[in-house]
Amino acid sequence: MAKTYYITTPIYYPSGKLHIGNTYTTVLCDALRRYKDMRGYDTFYLTGMDEHGKKIETVAKERNLPPIKHVDEIAEETEKLWERMRISHDDFIRTTEKRHKTVVQKIFERLLDQGDIYPGMYEGYYCMHCESFFTESQLEEGNLCPDCGRETSKLQEESYFLRLSKYEKKLLDFIEKNPGFITPESRKNEVVAFLRQGLQDLSVSRTTFDWGIKVVSNPKHVVYVWIDALSNYLSALGYSTDDDAKFQKYWFGDEVVHVVGKDILRFHAIYWPIMLMALDIPITFRLHVHGFYMQKEGKMSKSKGGVIYPDTLIENYGLDELRYFLLRELPYGSDGVFTPESFIDRINFDLANDFGNLLNRTISMINKYFQGKVTAYSEATTPYDEDLRKVAEATVADYETLMDELKVAEAIKTAWKLISRANKYIDETTPWLLAKDESKSGELENVLYHLAESLRIVGILLRPILLEASRALFKQLGVPKSLREYETVTFGELSEITVTKKPSPLFPRLDVKEEVQKLQKVIRGEEESEKTEEDETLVSLDDFTKLDVRVAKVVECRNHPNADKLLVLTVDVGDLGTRQLVAGVAKHYEPKELEGKLVVAIVNLEPVNLRGEKSEGMLLAGSNEKTMEILFVKDLEPGDPVQ
Ligand code: MSP
Repeated sequence: MAKTYYITTPIYYPSGKLHIGNTYTTVLCDALRRYKDMRGYDTFYLTGMDEHGKKIETVAKERNLPPIKHVDEIAEETEKLWERMRISHDDFIRTTEKRHKTVVQKIFERLLDQGDIYPGMYEGYYCMHCESFFTESQLEEGNLCPDCGRETSKLQEESYFLRLSKYEKKLLDFIEKNPGFITPESRKNEVVAFLRQGLQDLSVSRTTFDWGIKVVSNPKHVVYVWIDALSNYLSALGYSTDDDAKFQKYWFGDEVVHVVGKDILRFHAIYWPIMLMALDIPITFRLHVHGFYMQKEGKMSKSKGGVIYPDTLIENYGLDELRYFLLRELPYGSDGVFTPESFIDRINFDLANDFGNLLNRTISMINKYFQGKVTAYSEATTPYDEDLRKVAEATVADYETLMDELKVAEAIKTAWKLISRANKYIDETTPWLLAKDESKSGELENVLYHLAESLRIVGILLRPILLEASRALFKQLGVPKSLREYETVTFGELSEITVTKKPSPLFPRLDVKEEVQKLQKVIRGEEESEKTEEDETLVSLDDFTKLDVRVAKVVECRNHPNADKLLVLTVDVGDLGTRQLVAGVAKHYEPKELEGKLVVAIVNLEPVNLRGEKSEGMLLAGSNEKTMEILFVKDLEPGDPVQ
């Protein structure tokens, strides 16, 4: 029976279009999956979307869409992108699907029942504007919100906690006993150092937003992101359902690999194994952590501009070119940089010159000297044959080791060693001189055979990487289907081939200056359009008039029971009745001094729950670094409109 291989990408946040940074993980897993397929494994490749949480709820609100509509749209867009990139996934899990929700709810209740999850109070810094909690270390200087820069206040919220501390020692032991559990080694060391500092229990539920999976036994709470997200690796396999055949087959199979970027290392190396330990599920996976694609200027992020999207590159340069660059340029264990120059150079030097040209020259010579057909010829040899064969054999062996170690960039580099060796072989054997001497015809055929055979091997090795070019290579060289398979990767399997009469270049050479400029413009263009999307401050009159702004009379005012910066006001809005507002003005006003005053408030905002107190609108106040002033009016009536 074939060995099994289960490989996963992280599930992506549908907060916007995916850029080449997050695309990388998907392409990497795709290449690994195709490699394992080629090696005869029974593979299962999972990817998907992480669709819950406050951020997604906010993005949807900004787009004036119900969250489900928003995530449906992005999920569809993402699936189209994967189709375009010929990603070979078997399943696309979405955390809003019923099959996932049910599993998460079961997991949560089970952990709660057995005491691994317990109720408590979460204390953090709350930004009223973003309605989000932050830890102290996430805040900007002066305790400001890292998202909007506004002041935050220290608040408490009811929350469930996952008992990480209980499993700290067990996890350290596990990591020690399984040296290949986290790769690269440097990432493992990071995790061990973190664990040694001691773990704090993890807050795993929220009561301040709805867009999530409800806790069955206490629906006031929604499961907070990580338990929800990480469980996808099980729910997609049917864990804990009547149909758990995939779970049995792949989770307990031969190899399980989670591939993630370095930013989500801790969640996968600590929270996830602890969840599994608590659930009594064996940790069968290994965790592979890759670095980031950066811009010259630093991190690739939408807010910094200059984000590069895969569609643009595929449209202008082709899918193989993008796949090749992404997989080749990010070295194992560290970060890589995307620059227009490096992208065009890789296409010109590696793909067009070294690889494409070798194929083109070989086919042209076979046509020119042997009417398109060569046969394995062993009688007349050259002094360079043996070395070429040896390099081919070593390349295959190294490639296998490197791919098995998930070192894809290095495996590609190895394939290029054979390409370079074959190019050198042409210079050494000088076929154009052999062609001049009738008596050297056997030697010439032998040389061309060696070149064709080297290229066939390269074609097999690159099958998981260059989807179109490897096919084109086999077709142009005339390699029969059976000799495109990995079992035939040994030098000498080919006995005879007939090449195409009209070879066409695999990769056209690009004009560096022109293309770099074009690419820079594309990136800048995208940056500009991103900016207008993100930094747009103009609001249409239509949008503005949607707000119902009214004069309101404060009938009662008290301190918030759980937050010292907040006041709770009951206001009279004339014909609209009374409303409760929670406002962050306690540092500047005493409750009593506000009673009886006429203030201005937005009264048709969706109600929110702020530390256990409902807020049904927003009190208007101006502020600067020194002070804050509520907008008071004098001679108007409660309920009068403010325009
Ligand atoms: N939703 C979580 C993952 C939950 S998995 C149970 C998440 N999503 S994400 O969309 O923000 O990121 C998905 C992946 O893209 C992560 O592996 C992240 O490291 C990767 N990358 C995001 N930007 C990247 C680069 N610039 N370069 C390489 N990978 C990058 O995190």
